[in-house]
Amino acid sequence: TYVIVNGEFIHRSEAKVDIEDRGYQFGDGVYEVIRVYNGKMFTGTEHLERLIDSGKKIGMEIPYTVLELTKQLKHLIDKNGLNLGTLYLQVTRGIAPRNHAFPSRDVLPTFVAYSKEVERPVGNMKSGVKTILNEDIRWLLCDIKSLNLLGNLMAKQKAVEAGCFEAIQHRDGVVTEGSLSNISIIKNGKVITHPADNLILNGITRQKVLEICRQNGIPFSETQFTLGDLKDADEVFLSGTTVEVTPIVEIEGEKVGDGNAGPITKNLQELFIKEIE
Ligand code: PDD
Repeated sequence: TYVIVNGEFIHRSEAKVDIEDRGYQFGDGVYEVIRVYNGKMFTGTEHLERLIDSGKKIGMEIPYTVLELTKQLKHLIDKNGLNLGTLYLQVTRGIAPRNHAFPSRDVLPTFVAYSKEVERPVGNMKSGVKTILNEDIRWLLCDIKSLNLLGNLMAKQKAVEAGCFEAIQHRDGVVTEGSLSNISIIKNGKVITHPADNLILNGITRQKVLEICRQNGIPFSETQFTLGDLKDADEVFLSGTTVEVTPIVEIEGEKVGDGNAGPITKNLQELFIKEIE
């Protein structure tokens, strides 16, 4: 299979990381994960715009436009014959002698992208997943899709060790997001999810779900909700590129509703699947 390194298509086995790459040393960079359905990127433009935006937020100018990146990624999909899977893209601040301060402008960012065949998460979408609660100890710029994922990794690992799929993170009693997904609750027919501020990543799937709500007359609001609201919710679901729309059926060993995927979540899943077909 082929991968992209700084705009060039090379074989996976030929791609190497420099030990002084700032992504490797500092996690100094940004990334995206994009789904490919039927050989086509899903919400590719939105993801690429967010990548460039994440770059801006860390003072890094990505040396490609959305159009140029789209062209390269389409080429990668074709070259690898990818029909169903994901693309992973990352841009780091480049290779320079280790120094906390940013290198000079002539150090070019390192851009890599590769593709992977992955099935859709149909099993979890049907059965729903179990979750734990975990204090959100991450930094205050969670809107940036940064390579620094230690907080997220530790949250996810804690979930896995508890036999669960995801960790529901909360800060000062307010539910923020998962380790790799956004979280919404449904109460009396209304979808509620954390506002897109600095405390969460504004998921492209989250935005898609809200657009679906808007178009189908499903009430929603982007407002903070507490651990108490989570406990009282009729339905709870995750959204994200890898999880699509996945029901949460258990939180810390307690059932959500009757312990099965609820009707509004199921409806949102159906409407979401229509978008990707
Ligand atoms: N995760 N919140 C966090 C912390 C995430 O890492 C992600 C995505 C999301 C959902 O965003 P989107 O709908 O744009 O995928 C929310 C990716 C898939 C990952 O790290 O693998």
